[in-house]
Amino acid sequence: MSNAVKISAIDFCVPETVVTNNDLANIVDTNDEWINQRTGIRERRVVSGEENASILGFKAAKKVLEKSATNPLDIELIIVAASSPHKSYPSAACEIQAALGCKNAAAFDIKAACSGFIYGLSIAKAYISSGMYEKILLVSTDATSKFVDWTDRSTCVLFGDGAGAALLEKSNSGNDVEFINLVADGDSKDLIILDIPNENCPLAEKNEQHSSHIMMQGREVYKYVMQKIPLEVKKILTQSGKTSADIDYFIPHQANLRMIEALSERLKFPEEKVITNIQKYGNISAASIPSAITEGIEGGKIKLPCDVLICAFGAGMTIGTAIITLREYLK
Ligand code: ACO
Repeated sequence: MSNAVKISAIDFCVPETVVTNNDLANIVDTNDEWINQRTGIRERRVVSGEENASILGFKAAKKVLEKSATNPLDIELIIVAASSPHKSYPSAACEIQAALGCKNAAAFDIKAACSGFIYGLSIAKAYISSGMYEKILLVSTDATSKFVDWTDRSTCVLFGDGAGAALLEKSNSGNDVEFINLVADGDSKDLIILDIPNENCPLAEKNEQHSSHIMMQGREVYKYVMQKIPLEVKKILTQSGKTSADIDYFIPHQANLRMIEALSERLKFPEEKVITNIQKYGNISAASIPSAITEGIEGGKIKLPCDVLICAFGAGMTIGTAIITLREYLK
């Protein structure tokens, strides 16, 4: 028999430095009206100085351990969804493990871009269900600003930095992560790219420099999401035997407020059921869903207990959907 999963604690962290739309208008040819009309974003947070994805992830994870009064030595596995880590290795997971003092935990990174939290949740669920681990720390963290081309107005206005974290444990009662689906569509791999410059053969002629900035076909991504996400949301609703009316809250990846509004309308989730925070943070990649959950609970918009449909999409293209239960102890 497989074990059920408990979401015991959830939290997030963003850096302190705020970059407003007006700040960006001083750097590139843009303005607050364009950004707000097309994306709903007003400002975003970016790392500065020594800050990086591992540090943000550590801060979010520490909050989760404190909230749940968990001894770091009891954590058995740390999964970190990090698509913009500051090092290829050591992994962000090992850096976070060391900073937290989770000496008994295995630790590894995964990469699924903005779908990282849901991909990580599915891995944690599988480990807990199988009985291999009972206490898992899931961290999703991105410092995308380090890889944004700050001269490209079509991408630099969209992203911010942040980290989310959740403690997942073996449950002795209900299952908080009952339904979860993942999709990968490598045929659409060119829609969003972050290249790692890697030509270093000493015998090769010097080639043109590779870009190490995010390149995105924004309009194509928009169309892709509007076509695929409704199908995936309907699929998981059918699997669970629920309709959108049975779902208390809809929390999609926060990439564009206009996209969230259009998806919510198409999927019949009224405004009061839709949780957003993109206005303050921009697209914080895999951290967007845990941050929206945390703020929804803390701000009182999410009433516990509740069933929440989360869905994310990102470079790859990757998609993740899940129906999760948030209970009173998450307050
Ligand atoms: N300020 C002012 N004008 C701008 C800006 C800007 N910041 N950016 C683009 N423009 C201009 C363009 O140059 C273009 O001008 P033109 O008509 O003279 O050529 C015009 O605005 C329209 O450009 P589009 O790119 O067609 O604008 P669109 O309405 O599609 O909005 C946007 C762009 C906001 C990026 C939208 O396509 C979008 O949100 N797409 C989805 C992005 C997304 O979800 N990405 C997921 C990333 S997740 C991950 O894994 C990293």
